Amino acid sequence: MSNARDSHSLCKQASNYLKRQSRLRPQFAMVLGSGFQAALSHMDVDVEIPYGKLPGFLSVGVSGHVGRLVIGTLGGLPVIVLKGRTHYYEGYDMDQITFPVRALSEYGIRNLLLTNAAGGINRKFRPGDLMVIEDHINLMGVNPLRGPGVFGVPRFVDLTDVYDESMRNLLIQAGKKTKLRTFKGIYLAVSGPSYETPAEIRAYGRLGADAVGMSTVPEAIVARQCGIKVAGLSCITNLGAGISKTPLSHQEVLAMAEQQKTKIAQFIKTFCELYAKG
Ligand code: HPA
Repeated sequence: MSNARDSHSLCKQASNYLKRQSRLRPQFAMVLGSGFQAALSHMDVDVEIPYGKLPGFLSVGVSGHVGRLVIGTLGGLPVIVLKGRTHYYEGYDMDQITFPVRALSEYGIRNLLLTNAAGGINRKFRPGDLMVIEDHINLMGVNPLRGPGVFGVPRFVDLTDVYDESMRNLLIQAGKKTKLRTFKGIYLAVSGPSYETPAEIRAYGRLGADAVGMSTVPEAIVARQCGIKVAGLSCITNLGAGISKTPLSHQEVLAMAEQQKTKIAQFIKTFCELYAKG
């Protein structure tokens, strides 16, 4: 994607391609990260498209992430699901990893739920808990809006209310209904891919973070630039370095995500039902 015009034309191509694949026209989309993908088991699938077929989308490589876009209904709600995402730590630039959000905006998506796996910093958290993102701290060292500017959208985007209050409330309600321990908190994003040091985890806690992860913030910022309402949900797959008594591993993160997947799938379905009721 060499410039803004190429990117816009690719967004149009992706959006037109999607419109040809299904008659459904969801205005709600979700990005399912590690631990959340079982939500698809509750979905009435109309069409499933590998990212490789979609103009501008990158194929997704990290284990635990399989790159597919699915259009269908979930809990009665027409929805586009992005199953898996690319991460900044894989070496792509911000334009590339946030392209799907711009394509969804072009398509007509107005509300977006971003999910992820995260390490717990707040001492109340236990592995398997959920955290509804109230706000974020961007320590990725980059801003996804850096660059020549995108035609038709503001450059200096207000981030006072990144995470939409009414969707946050629906997530809390879904937690109560499905009896999953669900907290509210601040998500701090780092670039990764190494996990943090214990000193970093202590520092992030003092900065006000409740959980730490390596995704979501770039997509949330770009979505706000496009005028899309955003919600964010973390599965606390492990306790942060130094809080946890054992060394961290990607396997541990995936194992906890796997253990919680049935409950989380029910949570996401319940959220969609609540959302559909308005
Ligand atoms: N740190 C950063 N990212 C993560 C973690 C963590 O402990 N767990 C899952 N994603």
